[in-house]
Amino acid sequence: MTVDRRLAGRLAERGAGSDLEISTLLKEAGLDAVVDVLVDEILFRCDAPVNPVPVDIAMNVTHGSEQRRIVFRIARDRPIDVVDGDDTSIRREIGIGAVDLVRRLYGRTGQRRLGDFTDTFLPTRPADLAELPGILTSTNQASGTLFSGCTVPQDDLGKLSVAYGSDKWASFHWYTGHYEEQFARYRDQPVRLLEIGIGGFDGQLGGASLKMWKKYFHRGLIYGLDLFDKSALNQGRLTALTGDQSDPAALTAIAEEHGPFDIVIDDGSHENEHVRTSFDALFPYVRPGGLYVIEDMQTSYIPRCGGTAGPVAGPDTTVGLLKRLLDDIHHNEQEPRIAEAPTITQSQVVSVRVCRNIAFIEKGVNGENGIPGWMDDDAWVALGAIPPADS
Ligand SMILES: C[S@@+](CC[C@H](N)C(=O)[O-])C[C@H]1O[C@@H](n2cnc3c(N)ncnc32)[C@H](O)[C@@H]1O
Repeated sequence: MTVDRRLAGRLAERGAGSDLEISTLLKEAGLDAVVDVLVDEILFRCDAPVNPVPVDIAMNVTHGSEQRRIVFRIARDRPIDVVDGDDTSIRREIGIGAVDLVRRLYGRTGQRRLGDFTDTFLPTRPADLAELPGILTSTNQASGTLFSGCTVPQDDLGKLSVAYGSDKWASFHWYTGHYEEQFARYRDQPVRLLEIGIGGFDGQLGGASLKMWKKYFHRGLIYGLDLFDKSALNQGRLTALTGDQSDPAALTAIAEEHGPFDIVIDDGSHENEHVRTSFDALFPYVRPGGLYVIEDMQTSYIPRCGGTAGPVAGPDTTVGLLKRLLDDIHHNEQEPRIAEAPTITQSQVVSVRVCRNIAFIEKGVNGENGIPGWMDDDAWVALGAIPPADS
């Protein structure tokens, strides 16, 4: 099923709005197109089925006088299918309003209502009652699976990283704890996230971290950028773009079309020069309050990646860039005071958090003037903060 990715983005944005706002979008887009997006999202979110006996569950989604019926076939070791079930195969009938389903999927955590669906359990008597115990257990399990897809996922990033096969946790790196600390405040927001480097080796398509972000940010629009065409990964709320992170014009074109971004993550080539080029091109397209993240800074110390041999990373390395940002944050404290207009990193970098091999650069207004430039030693003496020179 191909879904309207633009509509998926609009639903994610509108999901925390009022009933009227959601309903207006539903009318505008049409129930069929909306249900296609919602089913795609549910299938993405569902836990792996565990029921040994295949179970068909019907979901009747209504909006005003319109209704759309979807039958999910759920069985262990198989992807969940949307099928044309007949009434005797249905083990459970769920009825839900489209507005409530949109809110369940794209509302803020805790925003959904309790009691937002109707439920008929085993509407038809099984032909052979000896099968009833197995059917009952499998129906319970399949229902749990379906409802895992109809809620806001709460999994932590470490678990998601391992489940999708990213190396951001429990590999050479232990990044996801740092990500959780930094990203918690965005989790409920309709963030736009761009990650450079989609991954996938040995002919694999990759996309592990993009799927991880899509699940973590249940309202997020996730963009990936890679040298190689990975557009086969495209789905609701996830877009794979092709381009070279060392090409500033390509990065600007991408950011003009899809930005500004709340979060940019550089997990691409890790060549020091590429990291700096990408930062220069994309930091202007990070929203105020957003973050620019750089992974794998160990290449600052690897000469074949443009790093410096030895214990002090040079100015052209990623660590060198971060050291410069510390000076930029303090540009208003330096003597002599800079007369010309501050650079973008001087005026808009408000914090730099460096952890092992990963850095989080926060954008905002770095506009405090600090101690006035005229506060010379005499003024400090007058304040009694330092002793007079001849004392
Ligand atoms: C470490 S993998 C990304 C892994 C992925 N982010 C994850 O966590 O699952 C690095 C990716 O960067 C891509 N890459 C390498 N050089 C690049 C460049 N110059 N521009 C864009 N992508 C590049 C590679 O093709 C590869 O897919």
